[in-house]
Amino acid sequence: MASITIKTEDDIKGMRVAGRLAAEVLDYIAPHVKPGITTGELDRLCHEYMTNVQGTIPAPLNYCPPGYTPYPKAICTSVNDVVCHGIPGDKALKNGDVVNIDITVIKDGYHGDTSRMFFVGEPSILAKRLTDITYECMWLGISKIKPGAHLGDIGYVIQQHAEKAGYSVVREFCGHGIGKVFHEEPQVLHYGRPGTLEKLVAGMIFTVEPMINAGKRDIREMGDGWTIKTKDRSLSAQWEHTVLVTETGYEVLTVSPGMPLPPAFIQQSADSSPVTA
Ligand code: MF3
Ligand code: CO
Ligand code: CO
Repeated sequence: MASITIKTEDDIKGMRVAGRLAAEVLDYIAPHVKPGITTGELDRLCHEYMTNVQGTIPAPLNYCPPGYTPYPKAICTSVNDVVCHGIPGDKALKNGDVVNIDITVIKDGYHGDTSRMFFVGEPSILAKRLTDITYECMWLGISKIKPGAHLGDIGYVIQQHAEKAGYSVVREFCGHGIGKVFHEEPQVLHYGRPGTLEKLVAGMIFTVEPMINAGKRDIREMGDGWTIKTKDRSLSAQWEHTVLVTETGYEVLTVSPGMPLPPAFIQQSADSSPVTA
């Protein structure tokens, strides 16, 4: 098993900044997600905000993992049956669409990676429920994070919650370690068994980013080499946070003033903010 980096205090400081900046791009773009706007325009707005306002670098632009062609845009916009890695283009969003916007920024060499779902106008009952269940899946997974827990504990609760609702978990893509490198060890599967896989240690940083399909879990890749859709054309939803393992639990790094509140089942107390445990 390849090794998982343990972040230094300096790394953690850098990752807090990068995480907050990534989340703030989502706050910035939220009011623009309206019927009639194209995903290409959302990309242009985010790209300009990152470059000109934040002084961050969009990590996706020209990102080229082995076997891929360079990613052509600054953000990912995954609409309706697109599971992930949707490339922004000139198609306009319309009332009832659901779109995941996935932002990864680089600041001072550190990566912050987060995504949220947005409703374009009024969502269908299915789209709303799938989005809510997926949000709960992400937070259930995050809630398991503490030293001594196993990666399989995270995958297990996500899979249980999704499947109990009648939905399915995408297997081909997973969360990932992150830091000075965009995608590093470990792989964070969104399915699995409690007590299996790597044991968590304080100082690890990784993403939790479940992709949940309303129908079957099977996917297909589009001819552009990036866009992933559900094979059965069912809706797919995803949420993502970047999370630090602390001595006592976790700290969500991709936080901002406009982020949605965690679900009520996430314990909150006077001396613990909603994003740490
Ligand atoms: N942000 C995605 C993730 O959560 C990765 C996108 S890679 C890209 O891991 F090249 F498509 F942007
Ligand atoms: Co990610
Ligand atoms: Co992401």
